[in-house]
Amino acid sequence: MPIIKYFKRHRMELPLRPPHATADLPAGFRWVAWDDALMALHAEVKYQSFHQHEDALVFASLATRAGCRDLMAAIRWRPNFCPAATWLVTRPDGAVGTIQGLLDKNGYGGIQNLGVVPACRGLGLGRALLMKALAGFASVGVPRAFLEVTATNDPAVRMYRSVGFRAYKTLYRAVELPHPDTVGAGL
Ligand SMILES: CC(C)(COP(=O)(O)OP(=O)(O)OC[C@H]1O[C@@H](n2cnc3c(N)ncnc32)[C@H](O)[C@@H]1OP(=O)(O)O)[C@@H](O)C(=O)NCCC(=O)NCCS
Repeated sequence: MPIIKYFKRHRMELPLRPPHATADLPAGFRWVAWDDALMALHAEVKYQSFHQHEDALVFASLATRAGCRDLMAAIRWRPNFCPAATWLVTRPDGAVGTIQGLLDKNGYGGIQNLGVVPACRGLGLGRALLMKALAGFASVGVPRAFLEVTATNDPAVRMYRSVGFRAYKTLYRAVELPHPDTVGAGL
């Protein structure tokens, strides 16, 4: 019998006041702006960043490559997709970080699925991606940014707070999970 688990999530927001702080990358990394040809690469970095993370329980699509490809396509083909806030970070051996932006009905900028592959965390890439997306929103006149984050995701919550995001709302996402006694038992 499945169990229902409730994941606590914060909606965080930040007013955007241009000129926006620059987003610098450590040596050896570079920015790649949005292009439709990059959809599969964003999806792969999303998968590498999230599939072993708790958020892959909260959003099942993050647990599989196919799910990440579908999610990336869904983001890209929304009419309110914001290329200016959508970036990859690469190094010579491949892509290591991703962020995407969408606009809501108020014209506010929603940060989607910021992810850095595990081997490249703690180098400043996550913060740089966030700043790059915020600068992208500001460059197209977006007055305010928002995002949702799982409350137990300390690295992400700390990063968003340090950039100035504040929690405005708490949400609970109900997720059906297999009962622990049935996992691996073929039941
Ligand atoms: C969250 C994530 C994007 C951070 O990327 P990162 O490149 O490691 O982050 P940075 O090196 O730029 O660090 C930025 C800030 O994040 C916080 N942070 C990063 N790693 C941390 C850790 N292990 N513990 C606590 N805080 C941490 C710190 O505030 C840090 O600032 P500081 O270095 O000045 O202390 C990355 O951990 C990740 O991809 N996690 C899995 C996916 C995810 O949770 N995405 C966010 C969904 S809302």
